[in-house]
Amino acid sequence: MFKVAVLPGDGIGPEVIAEAIKVLNAAAERFGFTIEYKEALVGGAAIDAVGKALPQETLDVCNEAHAILFGAVGGPKWESLPPEEQPERGALLPLRKEYNLYANLRPAIIFPALLDSSPLKNSVLGGKGFDILVVRELTGGIYFGQPKGIYQEEDGRKGVDTMIYHEWEIARIARKAFEAAMVRNKRLTSIDKANVLNSMVLWREVVSEVAKEFPEVELNHLLVDNAAMQLIRDPLQFDVILAGNMFGDILSDEAAMLTGSIGMLPSASLGDFKGLYEPVHGSAPDIAGEGVANPLATILSAAMMLRYSFRQGDAAKCIEKAVEDILNEGYRTADLYRGEGTKVNTSEMGDLVAERVRG
Ligand code: IPM
Ligand code: MG
Repeated sequence: MFKVAVLPGDGIGPEVIAEAIKVLNAAAERFGFTIEYKEALVGGAAIDAVGKALPQETLDVCNEAHAILFGAVGGPKWESLPPEEQPERGALLPLRKEYNLYANLRPAIIFPALLDSSPLKNSVLGGKGFDILVVRELTGGIYFGQPKGIYQEEDGRKGVDTMIYHEWEIARIARKAFEAAMVRNKRLTSIDKANVLNSMVLWREVVSEVAKEFPEVELNHLLVDNAAMQLIRDPLQFDVILAGNMFGDILSDEAAMLTGSIGMLPSASLGDFKGLYEPVHGSAPDIAGEGVANPLATILSAAMMLRYSFRQGDAAKCIEKAVEDILNEGYRTADLYRGEGTKVNTSEMGDLVAERVRG
């Protein structure tokens, strides 16, 4: 029995999570496993109900689970709260830290049926699109380094964040990225800013040392500014991209946009004992409650959950294939619809995928 903590959160979170659960249930039926779901409050929904973005009851539910299926948090309603109490910083960052979810996998794939959605020219995409995996360090770097704060000085206030990377932190995320490259196209691009930052000089050194354990993988180092440019100039050169917390945050959004459909992108945040799975898109308060959100990113996140937390690779592939088939057949949610094919709403899209998965 697989235990899943379900944290729908805010905005379109609950709508897309409901569809992912439909698909998970179909996969469980077909592949003969059972999933036990326990739902808990997170983000703005939790602030409204109990005054905290990440209440203890929610942590209790997560503690008991093997994996966390996360919708989205945040919205205009909570934007006037102090920054550290807001849904994003008050729930997402503490969850990552609490469960030591240091390895963030963000696949950016252009599905062939959606090639025209990419803002890049077809000539840049070579007529076939790309398949990039961004591996982002998620529990260290400038997001968490101390000291951190806004301090009063004699000449005014001073804002401080500290970028720190320990050798062991770099080595463990590098190993994850090399392992991922080994089951893909065996190419790894490590991102740094070694021309300016000491933490990034060490990053480059340690990644090069870990590379010796993976002689089959071709390793390249790119400075982050150059990487931002190369992603647009020639995205096909990339297989796995390894980056620290802040650079990975930025480049994963860039890669996401290049696929043309942020509503399609899943993610996994993995620690040694638990995984959190969430769509890359946010809570999209502007379309919440209308039943038009694209549930595919969450459905694909659920597939990642089956693969990484529950070792159900066949079930994960089956879901991914079902999504691809549905797109090839021309079904589109509003965000993907370009006047051709069949426009469907959130729950119709979930039904279509679940039906294919059930077989
Ligand atoms: C992400 C988001 C978060 C981050 C924010 C919401 C704290 O941008 O998951 O990429 O910066 O990590
Ligand atoms: Mg981000």
